Amino acid sequence: MVFRSQGGLLSLAILLLALCTPYSYAIRTYENEIKSAVFLSPKFVLGPGSVLDKHFYNVDFRIGHVALKSFTAEVIDEAGNLVPLHETYIHHWTIARYHQSKSVTHTETVTHIPDPYGIEIGNSAEIPAGYEEKWWNNVHAIDNRGVEDKLGCTECRCKCNLYNVTKDEYGQPLKPEYIGDFHCCHDGTQCRIREGFEGPRRSLYLRYTVKWVDRDRIVVPLKIYILDVTDNMKKSSGSSGKNPEHDCQIEYQVKPCSAAGRNDSGYTHVKRTSISIPYGGYVIYGVGHQHAGGIGTALYGEDGRVICSSVPIYGEGEEAGNEASYIVGMSTCYPQPGSVKINDGEVLTLESNCSSTKRNTGVMGVMYLYIAEQLPQSNRLSHSSFLW
Ligand SMILES: *[C@@H]1O[C@H](CO)[C@@H](O)[C@H](O)[C@H]1NC(C)=O
Ligand SMILES: *[C@@H]1O[C@H](CO)[C@@H](O)[C@H](O)[C@H]1NC(C)=O
Ligand SMILES: *[C@@H]1O[C@H](CO)[C@@H](O)[C@H](O)[C@H]1NC(C)=O
Repeated sequence: MVFRSQGGLLSLAILLLALCTPYSYAIRTYENEIKSAVFLSPKFVLGPGSVLDKHFYNVDFRIGHVALKSFTAEVIDEAGNLVPLHETYIHHWTIARYHQSKSVTHTETVTHIPDPYGIEIGNSAEIPAGYEEKWWNNVHAIDNRGVEDKLGCTECRCKCNLYNVTKDEYGQPLKPEYIGDFHCCHDGTQCRIREGFEGPRRSLYLRYTVKWVDRDRIVVPLKIYILDVTDNMKKSSGSSGKNPEHDCQIEYQVKPCSAAGRNDSGYTHVKRTSISIPYGGYVIYGVGHQHAGGIGTALYGEDGRVICSSVPIYGEGEEAGNEASYIVGMSTCYPQPGSVKINDGEVLTLESNCSSTKRNTGVMGVMYLYIAEQLPQSNRLSHSSFLW
């Protein structure tokens, strides 16, 4: 997953939004008020083919009571140079607060939150007595230097014997039919490297850049939902569905389609799931997350309308941010504020397509949605002035 290359795309998306939205001039912007800080994760050390999946608690994130505007991350070496994905593949990273589990405040691909919205953090009124707001950071990285099969390693295909793994991260033996995903590339595992390849172990950091505005400048608070196509949501017994149980596997496998359907353009494997969000609102931002093989994700409303459709962008080069055959970004959705609404309890359909010309493991189909319960006041006013 690459975050850094999205900057350009996002600014384009924002520009388009500005151009196409008749009342966009009324939206407050905070350009001159944005502050930023750069933090480093704790150091981690990777040798060729090795895998790191570490949870760091109480990571440095002291910015006070503010409204987050953007969050990006990239891997750097000790000299501060960017490390390309074909050397160190970031399977995923997450950063979240942990005094209250329900507000995961965020994760990969939070790149930019459009004005006048923000994610409020550091609000002492929200912190339970006796607790502190702390930050947790999970980094799952695979060192791809000198490996036999870069995509195989990043997709964690242990059945191809790329990994020296017979047990999952909990010590449970892997089932014989298990062809690979998460459980093959847990912390400390090793992907097979080319014979004779030698490379140094090296120290790396995740460098994350956070942008925010002061809380009093703000802003319409947002909620973040992470929808997962492997979610087999069960409504809790006898309930209204407000507190469904979620059972996400995060990754799924795509079996090659039968030979009968084979042709050069490849096949599409379509996976869908139904998910409901207890409290809806206006969609402010949406983006999918897929791994290699992914060809698109979309979220549909109960009536079939498209809420957000997000397609992967594959790299074409060698340099960091444009690595060939890796997904280096996903297209994003910035609907015109107020134009896309999800109703409370609406049953949504999340769809994730991937190419099944070859076997893919570790495919992910996740969509991040930012939802505002209300629209900014100024927006409504200016909107009504267009309804003549
Ligand atoms: C895999 O190999 C590495 C390097 O030889 C070793 O350190 C690690 O313990 C092995 N992991 C498993 C799960 O066998
Ligand atoms: C390949 O199969 C797909 C799905 O059946 C079809 O839409 C497409 O036209 C086919 N392409 C070729 C080149 O035959
Ligand atoms: C997924 O594939 C199906 C069938 O080809 C197609 O109808 C749908 O639009 C695709 N969705 C996305 C998000 O690419």
